[in-house]
Amino acid sequence: MQDLYGREITYLRLSITDRCNLRCKYCNPEGSSNWLPHDEILSFEELVSICRAASMIGIKKIRLTGGEPLLRPDFVKLINLISEINTIEKICITTNGVLLEDFAYEIRKSGLRHINISLDTLKRDKFNYITGMDLFNKVWNGIQKVISEGFKPIKINTVIMSGINDDEILDIAGLTLDYPLNVRFIEYMPLGCRSKWDLDTVVSSQKIKEIVENTYGELTPVENSRLSGPAILYRIKNAKADIGFIAPITRHFCNICNRLRLTPEGRLRLCLFSDEEIDLKSILRSGGTQEDLRNAIEKGIIIKPARHALQQTKRHMSGIGG
Ligand code: GTP
Ligand code: 5AD
Ligand code: SF4
Repeated sequence: MQDLYGREITYLRLSITDRCNLRCKYCNPEGSSNWLPHDEILSFEELVSICRAASMIGIKKIRLTGGEPLLRPDFVKLINLISEINTIEKICITTNGVLLEDFAYEIRKSGLRHINISLDTLKRDKFNYITGMDLFNKVWNGIQKVISEGFKPIKINTVIMSGINDDEILDIAGLTLDYPLNVRFIEYMPLGCRSKWDLDTVVSSQKIKEIVENTYGELTPVENSRLSGPAILYRIKNAKADIGFIAPITRHFCNICNRLRLTPEGRLRLCLFSDEEIDLKSILRSGGTQEDLRNAIEKGIIIKPARHALQQTKRHMSGIGG
């Protein structure tokens, strides 16, 4: 289905839990005491009903995010249930990687191959500072495990923040020379974060690209595939994988936005930056039919904003899922 601005909406991101085992400064609010109660979070059956209704109006790609999606007990079962919907072409996960070592094998058996891992530093101390947890080694082992299990593509999401990890741009870009890891540098966004956000903390994609090119030489542009996200892709000469730049601040990509989001408590979010949401859970829990769900999603697509206004959101990133 197209929205009022001619954008074909094909991609639904499901935040399946607000819980997380990290406490990233730019994302997670006050920590574990504020989690949603269990019965407010959608069950697998409810999530699958929404995916089915969404697939009827043209959703072809589903991403499971969080919080940390691998914390949801039995999440591989959810992947299997969604895979049964014939018109869904692609299922992917965005994870912080902490539990990948334990679950990579099981996830691969489900058929899912496309995985994005958040990693903002290659230094154990800094990882501890940014995420509040001493788990760098565990994440790194998880990354090695998904490489050895043959996941493809594997993308590393790195949010560069001035004065925090901008000294690691070259090392992180250099991962693409040694490993089949596609690195995406994301501009820091003001999303309900508890750490300071202002334009001075954002390092622009342009600046990051210049830093990379000064050392590794001119980057070669790479074409993006049909269902892929907003990253503009390049490659260092002789690299094993791509470098992507996601520039929501300096070069927003709202004109090609193809996505809807679902919060853990079943609210359809029409734009990352807009707190306007449609409550699908109450439709599900008041005996609504697939047709009712479908109508509500269509209504959402019709009121999807033309572009973001870059305002601070009420909701934290851990309840949106990126
Ligand atoms: P692929 O499908 O693998 O290309 O990934 P994706 O970019 O859709 O998913 P991922 O979860 O890895 O998203 C990367 C990050 O890009 C997100 O977490 C956000 O930080 C940013 N991003 C993705 N979509 C949007 C969007 O619609 N608006 C804005 N402002 N930022 C977005
Ligand atoms: N700005 C930019 N990206 C963010 N992410 C989380 N919070 C922010 C923010 N404030 C990214 C993480 C993760 C993805 C889901 O969202 O890197 O990979
Ligand atoms: Fe957890 Fe992801 Fe938020 Fe970090 S960015 S606290 S890993 S949900």
